[in-house]
Amino acid sequence: MYTNIDILIPETDIRNKVKELGEIITKEYKNEELIVVGLLRGSVIFMADLIREMNISLKIDFMTVSSYGDGKTSSREIKILQDLSENIMGKNILIVEDIIDSGLTLNKVIEILKTREPKSIKLAAFLNKPSRREVNVEVDYIGYNIPDEFVVGYGLDFAQKYRNLPYVGILKGE
Ligand code: IMP
Ligand code: MG
Repeated sequence: MYTNIDILIPETDIRNKVKELGEIITKEYKNEELIVVGLLRGSVIFMADLIREMNISLKIDFMTVSSYGDGKTSSREIKILQDLSENIMGKNILIVEDIIDSGLTLNKVIEILKTREPKSIKLAAFLNKPSRREVNVEVDYIGYNIPDEFVVGYGLDFAQKYRNLPYVGILKGE
């Protein structure tokens, strides 16, 4: 147990929420082919749980985009570091992300993927910080809206640590 972390969303709440989201998404894509695209690395825990609550035929793929988030880079340019393996033309795409903050990352990712002419693109984010938004992003499935606090766990990191916590917590004093 960490003394520098206050639990914000307990493990059992997360499990119920992900189940709920999985049921909604299952209905949405009944009889449709789907590619679930996870943005590395933060989405992996949420994605692994979510797809097991989705009772449909699907493929998974991953993408890594550069993060500007250390505050040292002024350009805030988002680049693809590792691209998808699948050809997404004509396919239904569900992007899965751990958290949407400014919206810059997802805005750019959606822009890039749209040029490849998928049939549809939707977005599932486990967490959302609406008060931090700088560019508009339409999120189709949201786990939780949270206040402007730095959170870790359930895939979310601070300096690459804490991703394995089964709950979401507010990190204090780092
Ligand atoms: P955006 O482009 O500003 O929306 O940034 C989203 C990315 O910032 C997420 O994928 C996370 O990697 C990171 N991020 C934003 N807020 C937090 C947080 O509270 N904890 C951990 N990572 C965060
Ligand atoms: Mg991320």
